[in-house]
Amino acid sequence: MPSTDTERDLKRVRVDTAFFLAADPRMPDFRHGLFLAPMVRIGTLPSRLLALEYGADLVWGPEIVDRAIMGTERQVNRTTGEIEFLKENKQIFSCHPVERPRLIFQVGSSSPENAAEAVRIVTAHDDVAGVDLNCGCPKPFSTLGGMGANLLSDPDLLCEILTHMRRAAPPHVSVTAKIRLLPTQEATRALVEQIVRTRTIRALTIHCRTKNMRPREPALLDRFSEIAAHVAMVAKETGQDIPVVCNGDCFSARDVGMIRERTGATSLMLARGPEANPSCFGRRVCAATEIAPKWLQYAVYFDNPFGNTKYCMTQLAFTTTGGAGDAEKVSPLPKRELVARRAALSQAKTHEEIAHALRLSWPAEGAEQLLAHVQTTIQQQTPA
Ligand SMILES: Cc1cc2nc3c(=O)[nH]c(=O)nc-3n(C[C@H](O)[C@H](O)[C@H](O)COP(=O)(O)O)c2cc1C
Repeated sequence: MPSTDTERDLKRVRVDTAFFLAADPRMPDFRHGLFLAPMVRIGTLPSRLLALEYGADLVWGPEIVDRAIMGTERQVNRTTGEIEFLKENKQIFSCHPVERPRLIFQVGSSSPENAAEAVRIVTAHDDVAGVDLNCGCPKPFSTLGGMGANLLSDPDLLCEILTHMRRAAPPHVSVTAKIRLLPTQEATRALVEQIVRTRTIRALTIHCRTKNMRPREPALLDRFSEIAAHVAMVAKETGQDIPVVCNGDCFSARDVGMIRERTGATSLMLARGPEANPSCFGRRVCAATEIAPKWLQYAVYFDNPFGNTKYCMTQLAFTTTGGAGDAEKVSPLPKRELVARRAALSQAKTHEEIAHALRLSWPAEGAEQLLAHVQTTIQQQTPA
């Protein structure tokens, strides 16, 4: 948070690229860590707070399309502290001051002007530490508008969007991009080189799959180190320092050693692991039955949209998606009980019914203590 008038003024000043790239201690640290990946629907406030509790170093919000955040009204809940961006009473995005130093807002865009406007909206009150451009989503809702993975085949537009985002963001807010591999190493090297030469990004995430690969196909981790080395070379040549984050098939902290060895990456981003169980960031993966009560407590405290709570808790508690097997292995419940709870959960129409379906205590209280714990953890880890 800005503490002096000078800092407050600086936030509003648009300065040149050299200033943007100067080390700013308020910038998030992308160099070493385990990060919660952007996930549509899954990456809402309760998921992010749980990921932080269990050891995620940075958390990405779900992709929000530029036009969705444009025209929203920012509202602060004086009781819970939650910040909501609302349009026609519908929550488009929400966040909390506790996560602010670790929160990256991901935008979906195919328009430099709209991307810039989205960045201005989410950074106007210093609610996020960084903004990220989604250049990797292959789902039709993203690519149809020319966004997501379609940007990979229009690098000039991709780079123009990043330039507009950098100009729109205050100097202490990082700009990053998340891409997929292109079919060949040569094409991928050319793409990352063009991105690095824009002098706009603070870090680059590489999802080690190509646009046409399905999530169940093994990530092409062996292609990572050459691309990361190329980023490092071009960055050095242009006087920059750009960490490259590796994403794909890291399901828990237990996979980290193997993936680091295979890729040379110091930072890893996880998606399906924490989708099934956010405690995957920690040394000890808890049973999903230990996570579910906390998810519900946050959901009730923040009045999380019910459909989102139900969706996330269904993914979290009793399914294993894409091999996020740790959650299942440590589940203490017999299979028949799991099936019964899943069935009851699918019928639930209120937060209270979710509690009954999953045999959780009701009222679901305790979110304030959870929040205080996250705050203490972040404060202890943040250099003075
Ligand atoms: C439910 C879900 C939603 C996702 N939504 C996004 C998104 O909003 N933006 C994005 O860049 N990638 C999104 N992805 C892709 C992930 O961020 C990640 O790149 C991919 O799942 C590979 O990581 P993993 O092997 O750890 O799952 C999503 C993935 C999942 C499973």
